[in-house]
Amino acid sequence: MKLIHLHILVTCMIENIDSLFKQISLGVYVIGVSDGERHNAFTAACVMQVSFNPPLLAISINPEHYSYQLLKAGGICTVNVLSLDQSAIAEHFGSSAKDKMAGFQWQKGTTGAPILSESLAYFDCQVSHYTDAGDHKIAVCKVIAAARLNEGCPLLYNQTGDMDGSSELYKNLVDQIRGEGCCGGMTGLKDFFYVIGAADLAETVLVVLANEFAL
Ligand SMILES: Cc1cc2nc3c(=O)[nH]c(=O)nc-3n(C[C@H](O)[C@H](O)[C@H](O)COP(=O)(O)O)c2cc1C
Repeated sequence: MKLIHLHILVTCMIENIDSLFKQISLGVYVIGVSDGERHNAFTAACVMQVSFNPPLLAISINPEHYSYQLLKAGGICTVNVLSLDQSAIAEHFGSSAKDKMAGFQWQKGTTGAPILSESLAYFDCQVSHYTDAGDHKIAVCKVIAAARLNEGCPLLYNQTGDMDGSSELYKNLVDQIRGEGCCGGMTGLKDFFYVIGAADLAETVLVVLANEFAL
């Protein structure tokens, strides 16, 4: 009986994991990159301010993106803030189509990275360093210049539905957590907490579950 309860608990925790991650508030940005000759831009939600002095932004980027090559080569980028009514722009730059910047108005920032004229605001940055983060790299970027360009409210990641196809990306994780059933799933559950960077939580949850369910 207790094991059935545990199974329900584990299942509840992993169903809709993509929408659970969207409860962590994130905006939606177009990241402009350039190697000096080639320019490109891609949509990113995993962007946050990580220092006030110096002003640093962290951008989590999949190293398989074409944009990553340009970012690595040029060491510069812009973070362009999208507004509530710009989800079509998020979708456009969230694809890997060629020549994505055509048809949009751009200007070069101080660093040379492209600024999207219709964004709410931009941050013009130089990459300070990279950190490995699972299947992504985190580019820590120093803000060199920034300005408000237009009025409006920022678009939020949880307003983009499954535009980035992230529900697919969680599938292996969910299988791992499910394991081979309720008790087999415990190892997967522990791994899951480690994957999301909550090692302390993993220990606490497993101790509580072990006591509660006499596992
Ligand atoms: C709403 C949304 C958020 C996204 N967030 C990120 C992100 O934070 N980091 C990332 O590397 N890719 C993110 N992507 C995926 C890239 O935008 C997408 O893979 C794009 O095709 C990469 O462009 P590129 O191939 O021209 O470099 C996101 C896509 C969407 C639609």
